[in-house]
Amino acid sequence: MNDIKHHWEGVYNTKTDQEVSWYQETPVASLNLINELKLNKNYNIIDIGGGNSNLTGYLLKSGYTNLAILDISSKALERTKAKHGQRISTIHYITSNVLDFEPYLKYDLWHDRATFHFLTKGEEIKKYVNLVNHAVKHGGYMIIATFSESGPKRCSGLDITQYSAEKLKDVFKDGFKLIKSFEDTHQTPFNTTQDFIYTLFQKK
Ligand SMILES: C[S@@+](CC[C@H](N)C(=O)[O-])C[C@H]1O[C@@H](n2cnc3c(N)ncnc32)[C@H](O)[C@@H]1O
Repeated sequence: MNDIKHHWEGVYNTKTDQEVSWYQETPVASLNLINELKLNKNYNIIDIGGGNSNLTGYLLKSGYTNLAILDISSKALERTKAKHGQRISTIHYITSNVLDFEPYLKYDLWHDRATFHFLTKGEEIKKYVNLVNHAVKHGGYMIIATFSESGPKRCSGLDITQYSAEKLKDVFKDGFKLIKSFEDTHQTPFNTTQDFIYTLFQKK
């Protein structure tokens, strides 16, 4: 097992939902953005680094039928599967480092909250950009939420890259146009705050 996978398996093997800073009972900002898009319920949606997020649970309840969650941690996906219970079969679970992901279909919506920002090396960021340029349909959407420039510099003991909307716009400029962005302050389960920047892009 490589170091990064080992790290995340360790987190999900030892910490409950309430013990990880990124946990949200209801991922309000992401759900609002997705609702505004008025996507067809059978569109292909993927949550990158979905971890223990409740996002796909809410999307299932809203009637979306083609959902996928990718995470480097199999333990995280096991836990999310257990939460989804009988609705399991309508979700595609993918255990992979996003940088090794080879999608066999194109997505209408790519959602990533607090995973992209763990990429700190230029070549990793370039790989992610090439991946989304290939994996998101023409006219499809991408939501990227990261720590903002006033947010934390590390997460889960790992370095992250902070972004502004302008910086994200520049990173993804070849394949995507920025539709909207806003800042959001996340209240962690330990009553501290983390500043995020949310961006919605459309594939050119
Ligand atoms: C900070 S958590 C955010 C979880 C979820 N997106 C949320 O908003 O609640 C980061 C997640 O990304 C996953 N992750 C980190 N690096 C990854 C990588 N290179 N490829 C795939 N998943 C990764 C971790 O296992 C973890 O579940």
